[in-house]
Amino acid sequence: MALISDTASTEWVTIFITCAFLIILVVPIYRLLFHPLAALPGPKLAALSSWWQIRKIIAGKPYELAFTTDMVQSMNIIFLMKLNLTDFSAESSASQDKGPWYDMMRYQLIRRSAGPAFTASNLKRFKPKVIEVMQRVCERLHRLNGEEVDTSEWMHIIVLECLTSITWSGSPEDILEQGHNYGDLELNLTFWRRTSVLGHLPTLCVLLDVMPMLRKYVFQILGLPTSYSSQGIGLPAHVGPSLFKQLLHRISSIENPSFENGRDLIEQLLAIHIDKPKFNLDYARGIAGSCVAAGHDTTGSSLVSILCRICASPDLQRRVEQECRGERVPVGFEDRPSTITSACVREAMRLHHVTNISLPRVAPRDGLQLHGYFFPEGTVLGCNPTTFARNTDLFGPDAREFKPERWLSDDEDQIKTMERYSLLFGGQSRSCPGQNLAKLIISSVVPHLFRNFDIHVKVPKGGFDNYPPQFWTMLSGSKIRFVPR
Ligand code: HEM
Repeated sequence: MALISDTASTEWVTIFITCAFLIILVVPIYRLLFHPLAALPGPKLAALSSWWQIRKIIAGKPYELAFTTDMVQSMNIIFLMKLNLTDFSAESSASQDKGPWYDMMRYQLIRRSAGPAFTASNLKRFKPKVIEVMQRVCERLHRLNGEEVDTSEWMHIIVLECLTSITWSGSPEDILEQGHNYGDLELNLTFWRRTSVLGHLPTLCVLLDVMPMLRKYVFQILGLPTSYSSQGIGLPAHVGPSLFKQLLHRISSIENPSFENGRDLIEQLLAIHIDKPKFNLDYARGIAGSCVAAGHDTTGSSLVSILCRICASPDLQRRVEQECRGERVPVGFEDRPSTITSACVREAMRLHHVTNISLPRVAPRDGLQLHGYFFPEGTVLGCNPTTFARNTDLFGPDAREFKPERWLSDDEDQIKTMERYSLLFGGQSRSCPGQNLAKLIISSVVPHLFRNFDIHVKVPKGGFDNYPPQFWTMLSGSKIRFVPR
């Protein structure tokens, strides 16, 4: 008996060693020589596994690419074609149950139906709501009496007030009065630092779900924050649940929703639902929730970089103040910036992209021909917004410098090029649906603050490079004082 079992176990060991040997030898040989993408130039390590890219993300340099080519042509092809999202981006933009964004048909139905509510012209009707919020905010900031506070915390509070007011005529309980966001934005930052890396390692994620006790060690090895983070993508961790209750309460109070006279976005979305029942109630509720879920961190961190950049230059700040305090109210996002304030907004958002890893898309059924290479079905393709924003062909040799004047130049063609190749709000085929909402908020908040206060900002040690650009990121650690005028 013992002899038989010894022989059997020796066989198993042999099979195991042979398989391991084949995998270790055959897989790399296949990937380097025979894989359909083997001919692409670039580091061989990048061809062997996704570790090359993951290491770049961990190092805070996701914009350094393995293989660069005619970026402009790539962008046209990748984003003008309606390529499907990858699991990474679908997971990122969806609720935990893979949400409405996961299925392309459903996704298109939702975007088409909800589209009219998110146009710039429709959202303009909610501008009075933002002004009302800013009156409350300014009154509260006056009471701070010039005390030093955390910039990201306050920008987050302001954005949450604006978003909840526009979307369901709500207001996050007490956070403005208390001047405290429970650290929700920083928690999001931690969450995204991890997701930027783990999003590329789906098998590891499954393993960590099965064996959560390994998390701490894996995070340590990968150099990821081990501290508690927000539990998932979406509403801010602490104030989120009460915000969701507010949304449900508002929905139950609407009897005959009207699009034309809708008091807020959720009323308009319910009117769309009545008109087009296929756009069901869950979708309407999901979209309203995602206005806050997808908008609170992105818009908040944009405001942080805008204020920090303007106030880091006394001359620029003086010009912005003059403009904001004059008769003419500068707008943040005209098609072509015409004021120094709007130019600063554009430039700060260009240099401090909210999303910094390639926006991923999947090659379609018949594959894709690009730059003389064939990318088979399922290949993940993408363009990195930050790589574009730092591209000297598009922005000139000073592409890495903060120069708002570049947006005010007389060179129409140059402005059009900078506009056209900006991936700030994503690629055209499925760009950010909330961009007009974010623009409405930013273009109202910035002039209000400079009109009412002398603002003093302390940029954290390490300056503007103190934070690694990952999937979503933010300039954290800066302090601000709002001195009433
Ligand atoms: C300054 C603020 C914002 C920035 C910079 C921003 C940027 C982006 C980017 C880069 C994408 C990925 C697009 C792509 O893959 O091509 C995206 C997607 C998305 N954004 Fe925004 N966003 C902002 C604010 C908002 C707001 C206020 C909302 C609220 C409605 C929102 C809702 C979404 C949603 C739902 C998606 C997923 C869309 C999809 O899967 O097709 N965003 N955003």
